[in-house]
Amino acid sequence: MNPVEITQGIYNVGVRDWNIRDFHGYSVYQGTTYNAYLIVDEKIVLIDTVKKDFADQLIDNITTIIDPQKIDLVISNHTEMDHSGGLPRVMHKIGEDKPLYCSKMGHKNLSLHFRQRWNYHAVANGEELSLGKRTLTFLETRMLHWPDSMFSYVKEDRLLFSSDAFGQHYAGPENFDDEIGEAIMPHARKYFANILLPLSPLIQKLVDQVSQLGLKFDIICPDHGIIWRKDPAKIINAYVSWSEQTSAKKAIVVYDTMWQSAQAMAEAIASGIREQGVTAKPIHLRSSHRSDIMTEVMDAKAIVVGSPTINNGLFPTVSDFLTYMKGLKPKNKIGAAFGSYGWSGEAVKLINQEFEAMKFDMRDPGLKIQFVPGQEDIEACIEFGRKIGNAIIR
Ligand code: FEO
Repeated sequence: MNPVEITQGIYNVGVRDWNIRDFHGYSVYQGTTYNAYLIVDEKIVLIDTVKKDFADQLIDNITTIIDPQKIDLVISNHTEMDHSGGLPRVMHKIGEDKPLYCSKMGHKNLSLHFRQRWNYHAVANGEELSLGKRTLTFLETRMLHWPDSMFSYVKEDRLLFSSDAFGQHYAGPENFDDEIGEAIMPHARKYFANILLPLSPLIQKLVDQVSQLGLKFDIICPDHGIIWRKDPAKIINAYVSWSEQTSAKKAIVVYDTMWQSAQAMAEAIASGIREQGVTAKPIHLRSSHRSDIMTEVMDAKAIVVGSPTINNGLFPTVSDFLTYMKGLKPKNKIGAAFGSYGWSGEAVKLINQEFEAMKFDMRDPGLKIQFVPGQEDIEACIEFGRKIGNAIIR
């Protein structure tokens, strides 16, 4: 992509990755971008790089604005390889002795990633760096979402380089929020559900800290997706709301099935839940990606999970989903388990163990049905669903 001037002298020189569909296990149906930012002031600064495979494109983009060798220093806001993979190529091009600013943990992590003796400058939280007309302030955001993560803030432009925060995995023709409008919000929501959800308490603290510091934002430049310039408060408010982990009158019934017994149970349970005026839908695990289901988990009050018993255990996709969801630490959920079985029937017990580990509110030991559900079994599933629906509306 061609560089985009964000405000006078500040450019997005990053790249679009149109073809990626799997971002370490997160489905990205519309690609993503790796944003990197060039500030042309008395000092010339590059903030973050791109994935290794795109390093030459980044350098070509910079070259349309300035000779890359004129870059005075590089800032790494985040060590993960989608933003640091291009560093070796960039440092080689601009001069290996150029200063590389990062957090203290960034210094440690970059050293472990690249084993290079670059000219590291580890900065402290709140430290400032004058670029001439502009001043950069470094704000540590440890564990949002890596130990090395930090923001860089330009007070003169009220512009925040926010690293992964406020990003979206989306590659399209647009560069700014005003060009895409509301259509960007599902991407931002999915990004939060799959990356930031477990860090919700830290997000609330960070928002409090930023408000105490009195920082104002006219522009927020994340490392993925579009830049927020029309209404940066919109994404900040959305983060505050999402991090509160409140739920709607909604349940999801997530299941897999071997011979359609668990499927018949899932559909009957969902219909019982809906009888109580609660939104509910069955979600088949081999027809839906785990990262899309996590977006549904965000505002669901009840997470109902079903599995056949296979080889005395859970169906593999159910294990996969439970492991993934557990890592993302959803809070304030009701959990309910169900399953079909032939002879041993361990699945419901195993799902309940995972719910206990996630501290879900469990009102019922779960529902097991042997082989193929008959009409009475389907009635039992509908009743099971009604109880879940009642627990949600109470
Ligand atoms: Fe976009 Fe944590 O990397």
